[in-house]
Amino acid sequence: MSKDPSLFTRQTERELKRIVFSREEIRARVLQMAGEITNAYGPGDEILVLGLLKGSFIFLADLVREIQRPLQVDFLVASSYGNAMRSSGDVRLLYDSEASVKGRSVILVEDIIDSGTTLNRLVPLLEARGPRTLEICALLHKRVAALDREPRWVGFDAPREFLVGYGLDYSENYRHLPFIGSL
Ligand code: IMP
Ligand code: MG
Repeated sequence: MSKDPSLFTRQTERELKRIVFSREEIRARVLQMAGEITNAYGPGDEILVLGLLKGSFIFLADLVREIQRPLQVDFLVASSYGNAMRSSGDVRLLYDSEASVKGRSVILVEDIIDSGTTLNRLVPLLEARGPRTLEICALLHKRVAALDREPRWVGFDAPREFLVGYGLDYSENYRHLPFIGSL
């Protein structure tokens, strides 16, 4: 398949500076992470994979198909960015999961951790619902955040650039790129 990033974008959109993580690199890392997650849980665990929309949708879809345990999937929608490149600091829950968290082994799946505001708000909210365990699985981590809880699984340390693709957007564009690029 063609790797020319410009084929995925319109001329009106900003040009990507470079590909940061290729499709193949992402694929290999997602397989490793799924293996680690599979090994971290036992037959008695009722796993609930909670994806943070929209950014995690592709990562989550690839990840859960490689986790060899029974599990359920649900989603949360939290908004903090609007259409900007920086977090507004105000995290709103626009959609809440219908699945019960109580007694479950919850894996919160996040696309990228930047300021950490989203996670620092959501973790206490989910903990209050009494999960058996609550772990964070993030594809990317910029390593700038002061997090109240560190993620148990991280795909890649990310450069401190604005990244798009593989679910990540800038103003709702670029989510469908099969690789991760820098704007
Ligand atoms: P935080 O609350 O600052 O950690 O930001 C978390 C959310 O902001 C992520 O779930 C993303 O949706 C978005 N975000 C943070 N950094 C980037 C980026 O580099 N590209 C695209 N979205 C980002
Ligand atoms: Mg976003």
